[in-house]
Amino acid sequence: MSVLTTMNKSQSTSIRLPEKLTRGASESDRPKVFTDIYRDDTNITIWQRKLSDELALAADEILKTGARLKIAEAVTVKSVHSTLYNAFGETNAVMILSDDIALLVDMFCCLFDLKGVGLRLTALDRAMCPRFHFDRIPCRLVTTHHGTATEWLPHHVVDRSKLGAGNLGRPDELSGLFQSTDDVRQMSLGDVALLKGEFWHANEGAGLIHRSPAISTSERRLLLTLDFLSDE
Ligand SMILES: [Fe+2]
Repeated sequence: MSVLTTMNKSQSTSIRLPEKLTRGASESDRPKVFTDIYRDDTNITIWQRKLSDELALAADEILKTGARLKIAEAVTVKSVHSTLYNAFGETNAVMILSDDIALLVDMFCCLFDLKGVGLRLTALDRAMCPRFHFDRIPCRLVTTHHGTATEWLPHHVVDRSKLGAGNLGRPDELSGLFQSTDDVRQMSLGDVALLKGEFWHANEGAGLIHRSPAISTSERRLLLTLDFLSDE
């Protein structure tokens, strides 16, 4: 809490002002960066990684099957492969993608001491959440295995009064939510991010602002998210 002191001829008055929340990003090419999510001044951590050619090809191959790709299930590290095999078939490409997802599930469970996670794996041909927003959750893992990756805004550039109805019907670029398109950050294909939400302890008012990227009509994304299960 900061203190503002005002003075006139007869009195001095101290007014306690709400603390301005300070939040930043923690980014590294090492997965150890995930532990920074426990820092109070961090609302996004990004493991900047390059997809292996094998994994990129596998994701591309799975998308090309044209199947309606959508999984939303509770999984453990041990059940990831069977979940994907049941949904997409037991092919080499699905095995390669499953190996990667099992690794991420294992990391997420270790980091937060979880037995299982809520997995969503979706092929998208349009922006799922095209407006900037925050999530009312503790924390979500997000990664894009194919296509254009998630956009986000650093906490210090955002005027949160312009979120939701505060945009007065204007698009994000014109609402005053941020001042310059240069403020918009974008993850890269393969990056793995932890997005801190509003329900993380003491993070109300600082949940990471993000949105789905605009994509062309011919593009498809393969998006993975991992969440806490509600009974954890
Ligand atoms: Fe979201």
